[in-house]
Amino acid sequence: MSARVGIVTGANKGIGLEIARKLGREQGWLCVLTARDEERGRSAAESLLSEGAGVRFRQLDISDPDSRERFAKDAEQEFTAGIDALVNNAGFAFKGSDPTPFAEQAEPTMDINFFSTVATTERLLPLVKRSPHGRIVNVASMSGHLRIVPDAELRAKFASAGQPGGLGHDELMLLARGFVQDVKEGKHKEKGWPNSCYGMSKLCLIAYTKILAAREPTLKVNACCPGYVATDMSGQQGHKRPDQGALTPFMLATGALDGTSGGFWSDEKRIDW
Ligand SMILES: NC(=O)c1ccc[n+]([C@@H]2O[C@H](COP(=O)([O-])OP(=O)(O)OC[C@H]3O[C@@H](n4cnc5c(N)ncnc54)[C@H](OP(=O)(O)O)[C@@H]3O)[C@@H](O)[C@H]2O)c1
Repeated sequence: MSARVGIVTGANKGIGLEIARKLGREQGWLCVLTARDEERGRSAAESLLSEGAGVRFRQLDISDPDSRERFAKDAEQEFTAGIDALVNNAGFAFKGSDPTPFAEQAEPTMDINFFSTVATTERLLPLVKRSPHGRIVNVASMSGHLRIVPDAELRAKFASAGQPGGLGHDELMLLARGFVQDVKEGKHKEKGWPNSCYGMSKLCLIAYTKILAAREPTLKVNACCPGYVATDMSGQQGHKRPDQGALTPFMLATGALDGTSGGFWSDEKRIDW
């Protein structure tokens, strides 16, 4: 029997590297460790290979349409039985000390954490659906909790994501673009948005998770918060180690889920959004 295939984005360091390590060590799995930087990705994959993990490196910059296309075309040739787990881990956050004006922070943050993650997922979806076990794991954050949205009407709209008659894919895209525009114009507060580009990017990703789970009932699609993890993103300040942060995403990719899809998880438990 051929190995199950798990793809991890942004896996050259941090939580992604640890998810890749766990997947590559898991009996019966092959991990495709992806990274936007060829050298950093190869070197990470080599270090896991030297530990005996089942790992293969492929370049994937989720924000680059050419890179996405090349990766997907190669994957169609290479993994004809499909992709068993896609772990969307790649992410970005401006540091508090970054001099970039707030008005310019929404676009790059929403691009990587939301729009490009969605584009990557949609491009790889046919391959994930080819697997009889297809799973998608979106590494989100507690920063994307619904309570961050000050406006009650907007909050209710997001809360309805994936429910019959609730927020759907196209409307979510429009809302997300609207947020970026409102931040650019300095109007986001008066329009009822939160003052967090990172939070909104992860909130949109969780909403997308719920919409996709409803749309694709044969798949298990879940989002999670890895916890506050000591990585470059957190300035190495988190109280969890990266291998501890990898536990929930890894469980959602490989563990027994009893059919759960469309959930938001933390510390290996489903939690309220
Ligand atoms: N650390 C925390 O406390 C925490 C808390 C909640 C959620 N998260 C989420 O957990 C995930 C992993 O974060 P981390 O803490 O491990 O951060 P990290 O150490 O900064 O790693 C982020 C990874 O994403 C990659 N990446 C960024 N943009 C990319 C792109 N366009 N295409 C492909 N890869 C890209 C980075 O690649 P480069 O090395 O090339 O930059 C890096 O490999 C993120 O989604 C983050 O939002 C983290």
